[in-house]
Amino acid sequence: MRTILKILFLAAEAEPFVKVGGLADVAGSLPVALRNLPERFTQGVRLDVRLALPLHRTIRSEANTLRPLMEFDVTRRGGNIQAQVYETNLAGVPVYLIGGEPIFSANSVYSTDPSPDREKYTFFSLAALEMVRRMEWRPDILHANDWHTAPAIYALRSHQNDPILGHLRSVLTLHNLPYMGGEGTDALEAYGLNPAKDEALPGWARSQPLPLGLWAADAIVPVSPTYAREILTPEFGCGLDGFLRSRSNSITGILNGLDVTAWNPGTDTNLPEKFSVVNPSGRIANKKALQHHLVLPEDDRVPILAMIGRVDPQKGVDIALQALRQMLDQHWQFILLGSSDPALEEAARRLQVDYPERVRALIRFDAKLSRLIYGGADMFLMPSRYEPCGLAQMIAMRYGCVPVVHATGGLKDTVQEGKTGFLFQAAEVDSLMETLRRALPVYASPERWAHFQRSGMQTDFSWPRSAAQYGIIYRSLTSDKGFE
Ligand code: GLC
Repeated sequence: MRTILKILFLAAEAEPFVKVGGLADVAGSLPVALRNLPERFTQGVRLDVRLALPLHRTIRSEANTLRPLMEFDVTRRGGNIQAQVYETNLAGVPVYLIGGEPIFSANSVYSTDPSPDREKYTFFSLAALEMVRRMEWRPDILHANDWHTAPAIYALRSHQNDPILGHLRSVLTLHNLPYMGGEGTDALEAYGLNPAKDEALPGWARSQPLPLGLWAADAIVPVSPTYAREILTPEFGCGLDGFLRSRSNSITGILNGLDVTAWNPGTDTNLPEKFSVVNPSGRIANKKALQHHLVLPEDDRVPILAMIGRVDPQKGVDIALQALRQMLDQHWQFILLGSSDPALEEAARRLQVDYPERVRALIRFDAKLSRLIYGGADMFLMPSRYEPCGLAQMIAMRYGCVPVVHATGGLKDTVQEGKTGFLFQAAEVDSLMETLRRALPVYASPERWAHFQRSGMQTDFSWPRSAAQYGIIYRSLTSDKGFE
């Protein structure tokens, strides 16, 4: 029996190299967790996980510790494109950064125009496979994430006779189904990836990166058990629900974990007062510091409601803004931190203009301030219309900020009604209002509130349990190769 299972993990972004959204948190911590997974979780099999990322411009300009590894051509119609691979390390995980013209010419990780992104990520996906063919290290599993790296999985189908790639099994983690990579066979075909012919996929989906990956993957992993069920329904399935139901035997929801070392109110140097479940009193000073910093009335009896993250329709920012406008009879302060959709950003700014003594709309990304908000605000609002997993609610609970969330996806799987937070059944203004009217009196009773805070802070969101479930999938996919 072999005792090392080798996994190449592909992602568009990963902390600390580059971060736009939640994918970076997962891609920066899951490979490390898998590599360090105690053997009792893996029945003695060691997981040799390595990470491959595009060498985005931002990484390139900071990189002085990159070691050149190899160069080769990626076949493309109209002229091959050279790829360069550099090697570095993330907490013991070897990291391969792959560059080339389609990656270097992009200004940002994702662009608003889908066409250059398809070119960039198809190039990256195929360059990663070409790298594998040239390495001594031979992975057993290719683990891709979202549409950006799904083409690598689809491409494996045309390499079934390849002595190296033909043996690879594939896992596709699904972080966000609606982002499919867009229509247009341009980039895919240029790199030799023809549309699928299988009628199991709806016609419109046969040339889109994500559906092609979902079609070809050996295992599909949505980022929470509830989301894994939701995508099989017309409401959340984005037109692929029928196809996904036909693949339901290969779908397993696994909740993301949290990097509990990076997110720890007991050691967080961004907090004026550190605190913990046994010694929570520091929270009050943090709340005061937060109010002071944002020039809000410094009253610790007024609950601070907070939202942090992408300001877009998925996150239900509009729902929160409308609910608050209708709740002026109640005491609250509201802080929103994040950016994305210009119309929603404007609506948030308007709320601040109308209620300057209660509202702060901070339209930006600010990692340092986000920690003070988690550690000082009282309630964390997530009226997300859908939420594959969600990380902010886990951080909020760990920092004693009680979540008020729509019962969907990972929110439903991580927040316990009446114990660690408050859940509502429909992503609608009325449901959120009704739930806030339920939560505010609990806040007014310090003992009851402390109970919610303690339960949330004590919940274990760390990675090992989730990583162990990935380990089970890897082993089951390779059981014919002598791992079991
Ligand atoms: C996406 C999803 C979010 C999830 C994250 C990481 O950003 O919208 O729910 O937590 O991916 O999996």
